[in-house]
Amino acid sequence: MQERLKELQQEAIQKIEQSSSLKELNDIRVAYLGKKGPITEVLRGMGKLSAEERPVMGALANEVREAIATTLEAKQKDLEEAAVLEKLASESIDVTLPGRPVKVGNHHPLTRIIEEIEDLFIGMGYQVAEGPEVEQDYYNFEALNLPKGHPARDMQDSFYITEEILLRTHTSPVQARTMEKNQGKGPIKIICPGKVYRRDNDDATHSHQFMQIEGLVVGENIRMSDLKGTLEVFAKKMFGEDREIRLRPSFFPFTEPSVEMDISCMICGGHGCNVCKKTGWIEILGAGMVHPNVLEMAGYDSKKYTGFAFGMGPERIAMLKYGVDDIRHFYTNDVRFLKQFSKHE
Ligand code: PHE
Repeated sequence: MQERLKELQQEAIQKIEQSSSLKELNDIRVAYLGKKGPITEVLRGMGKLSAEERPVMGALANEVREAIATTLEAKQKDLEEAAVLEKLASESIDVTLPGRPVKVGNHHPLTRIIEEIEDLFIGMGYQVAEGPEVEQDYYNFEALNLPKGHPARDMQDSFYITEEILLRTHTSPVQARTMEKNQGKGPIKIICPGKVYRRDNDDATHSHQFMQIEGLVVGENIRMSDLKGTLEVFAKKMFGEDREIRLRPSFFPFTEPSVEMDISCMICGGHGCNVCKKTGWIEILGAGMVHPNVLEMAGYDSKKYTGFAFGMGPERIAMLKYGVDDIRHFYTNDVRFLKQFSKHE
């Protein structure tokens, strides 16, 4: 009987060692250690043994079981590890393969122009201010010296929502709001970019929605020469150091005096070409000294405080700078157009 047990142990261990799958291993376990297995069989015959032999044989049988079970366990571990390694090998990815290129977008040309202008003025101590696009008639017109019925309201055809609320026609209401908030105190130095709306038919140079950038400076002893100097710095930084500017008299109800600023044509250098319509000058923006009525309405003492304001269209500046011939390109968002302003290409 002892012999038989030893044999079984050897036989089982050999089979275990040779097995190559978890299934095979399980079959061996059932075959040798199961209830119908040969070891159980041997143990059943123990009844025929003497009382001295029985515990010796019992201990041996347990040893054999133990040995088989330990070997099974070790082999199972080996096989499982091998299975994991095989899976890893078969599923491995080649990290050196080049990836699919990710399409990178870029800033919209108008965003670039606006940020460039913001940076320029921030460098001169201005702060960026914003206001609502859905605006009250009061801030869009009345507080800017344009009472109801004023003929100059017709210059800016408006989208009214109610009688008192409209889509702002310019960024100038941000001036009125900022002054009101400052409660008669100076100084104020702000730049206000944003969308504006007018009832215009869209064509190459008109859009019912476009952008403006407003500038406002209020303080003591602010003079026309400050306005001129500021605009000159702006023109040179935006369009090149050899640009000259000229101010022409104009009219806006909220500034007095009012001017329009031209820059010497950067295409022909002032000799006359198609872009400047043979005049050598290109109109860039409207500006002026803040009207005393506007200051007073916002709570400022117009004897003590003066100010200047200007307003420009980033579309026009982008069109001139980048040679874009149709304002609608900025809003139809054709990627072939937009891609040309990428810094990555
Ligand atoms: N708000 C004016 C416009 O839209 C521009 C402007 C702003 C003029 C500030 C003078 C001062 O036409």
